[in-house]
Amino acid sequence: MKTTISSLLKIYENGEKFTVLTCYDAIFATLLTDCGVDVLLVGDSLGNVIQGEETTLSVTLENMIYHTRCVARGADEAFIMVDMPFGTSQLSPEHTFENARQLIAAGAHMVKIEGGRIMADTIQFLTKRGIPVCAHIGLMPQSIHQLGGYKIQGNTETSAKQLLEDAQILEKSGANLLLMEVIPASLAKQITETLSIPTIGIGAGIDCTAQVLVLHDMLGIYKKKKSKFIKNFMTESHSIREAVCNYVKAVKSGQFPDKEHEFQ
Ligand code: KIV
Ligand code: NA
Repeated sequence: MKTTISSLLKIYENGEKFTVLTCYDAIFATLLTDCGVDVLLVGDSLGNVIQGEETTLSVTLENMIYHTRCVARGADEAFIMVDMPFGTSQLSPEHTFENARQLIAAGAHMVKIEGGRIMADTIQFLTKRGIPVCAHIGLMPQSIHQLGGYKIQGNTETSAKQLLEDAQILEKSGANLLLMEVIPASLAKQITETLSIPTIGIGAGIDCTAQVLVLHDMLGIYKKKKSKFIKNFMTESHSIREAVCNYVKAVKSGQFPDKEHEFQ
């Protein structure tokens, strides 16, 4: 059965969890869909894991279009979310719409945009004109130079309050989903309980509606030290297919993430 924004909302309304993994090519799109992954995220993390760059900052719209086409060919049933890469969502709502349109034409069903309340007008512009949006807050890799490193966000009283307000403003502006990256589990829980749209967490604890990981990370392929929030699902599996299926089971049953993967 085809996954749609409506079927995702139904999972949320039933109080159940859904699963997201990044995906950059056709054959993995087929495998992930077979294992029951609900959302395939064509992440700009492809800058890191495919292109070998240190950051996501040099990923282009053309790169995203190419990988979206690859994923779309491999996955008839999947819901495909695609990152708007750095520089394609910041200039104006109109410019963002035109860039998002090209991703939709390539096979995306939703775009993901990094940024808090500053992106509210843009998200309203897109969602009012037929393009669903996932807003991405907390650790935003496209703002790495502004943030001064890949580190936890929302871990002071002031920044936690700001993130909660951002989440509420983004929901009001029409965001269909909210992704939260590397924030305290307690804050992610509070935001999830406050909002009436599903949340997706990465390094944000167990209480989000959905979880996401970078595919390569959960398969145990990383260059550097493993981040705390990652679980290598290959250690207890005999194949990639089994690892992905175990990820789906672990998320749906609330066994992943565990305490050891969360921040306080
Ligand atoms: O690009 C990506 O893979 C992402 C996830 C880590 C959320 O944005
Ligand atoms: Na991303």
